[in-house]
Amino acid sequence: MAADTSKRVAFRTFGCRLNQYDTEAMRTLLEGDESYETAAPGEAADVYVVNTCSVTARADASARKAIRRLRKEHPEAKLVVAGCYAQRAPREIARLSGVSLVLGTPDRARIVDELAAVERDGQRVAVSPVDTESDFLDVPVTDMLSHSRAVVKVQDGCNQACSYCIIPQTRGHSRSRGPQQIIDQVGNLVAGGYTEVVISGVHVGDYGLDLAESGWNLPRLLCALLEVPGLERLRLSSIEPASIGLDLIDLMASDHRFARHFHIPLQSGSDRVLERMGRRYRAVDFSELVERIAETIPGCGIGSDLICGFPGETGDDFEQTLERLRAAPLTYLHAFPYSVRPGSPAEAFGDRVPGDIKKQRVRMAKRLVSEKNEHFRSAQVGQDLRVLFEAASGKGSSAGWSDNYLRVELPGETGVIGMETVRITGLGVTGLQAEHLK
Ligand code: F3S
Repeated sequence: MAADTSKRVAFRTFGCRLNQYDTEAMRTLLEGDESYETAAPGEAADVYVVNTCSVTARADASARKAIRRLRKEHPEAKLVVAGCYAQRAPREIARLSGVSLVLGTPDRARIVDELAAVERDGQRVAVSPVDTESDFLDVPVTDMLSHSRAVVKVQDGCNQACSYCIIPQTRGHSRSRGPQQIIDQVGNLVAGGYTEVVISGVHVGDYGLDLAESGWNLPRLLCALLEVPGLERLRLSSIEPASIGLDLIDLMASDHRFARHFHIPLQSGSDRVLERMGRRYRAVDFSELVERIAETIPGCGIGSDLICGFPGETGDDFEQTLERLRAAPLTYLHAFPYSVRPGSPAEAFGDRVPGDIKKQRVRMAKRLVSEKNEHFRSAQVGQDLRVLFEAASGKGSSAGWSDNYLRVELPGETGVIGMETVRITGLGVTGLQAEHLK
């Protein structure tokens, strides 16, 4: 129970689902101390925690903008900057006006103590090296701030060292969470009303490799989670192509509680570029994999990530990428222009691709896959989809996400929350249109 004098804390989260989870972990730790309580939505706070991402230069810029705005709007509040950008460039963050605490990714567990030290001593930079981090930070999060679906982190860090990526330097090497802790947490979340759980990690396919207790891997973990009473849907977040075996595809096809959804980063369709990126598969492996998934799991939503204009990517390389995309049964694509990450191996690569060409390639790739997306959406009309309707829906309608990762709306109906099977009646601008089953 928070004391009357407790300080209100608000959170801003950037980046991926892992960061969302890390925010929840910090919130849980703060709420466990009687000095803090979470501010209501829109309420001014005494402490703001900005959980940053550093995946691109744009992500860094968004974090700086949020920090400046918070400083301007709440000059008296304490400002905590955590997450991947804080880990990558702590001094740069500490120089921003008004930052009270810079908190590294291995230092999240100490947020309460570090805030107390700030009260006593003024600004602090608490950023430990990630390579000393060997344990999974286990915080028993039992509810999520603003999400109808619960994100559960089962693994952190990465051993892969792709040349463009900063994540090994911001999150350290791969470590898995104990299976029993995950099973218990999913049980608690389901008992608390969550019907969908998203299993996430930096490299979720590496789950179990480092566990002393042998025999655990991702398929075994997923099977164990299906035993949790009341769990209606299990979704897998982004997973590397080399981590998806036939056993995983067959398992996900075998039970309707698995969301028909894979997100598999391709990054480039040129083997030459994939090799320079340090990726551990060939483009043809990706193509065969997504075709196999589409055949085995009808109606599956299959998304991918693409980096356009990686150093040395020629017009011919990009043509090969477009060819791969054209042939693949993808349903959506996240395409980004390559952005150099300070400290990553590719920072030293020559043959930089001009910005306008990178942007043009992003546009071409997006256009190509958006046609596939339209085709996929059209194919849903007349079908019944299981949709998790969310609390924060659109005006004059209720909205949510189907198992195969399509936004679905119930026009004219507000306040529908939770899992429901609906019939798709048409295509809308902001989502598929649906009606209740008669
Ligand atoms: Fe960004 Fe860190 Fe996630 S760089 S994408 S918040 S792992």
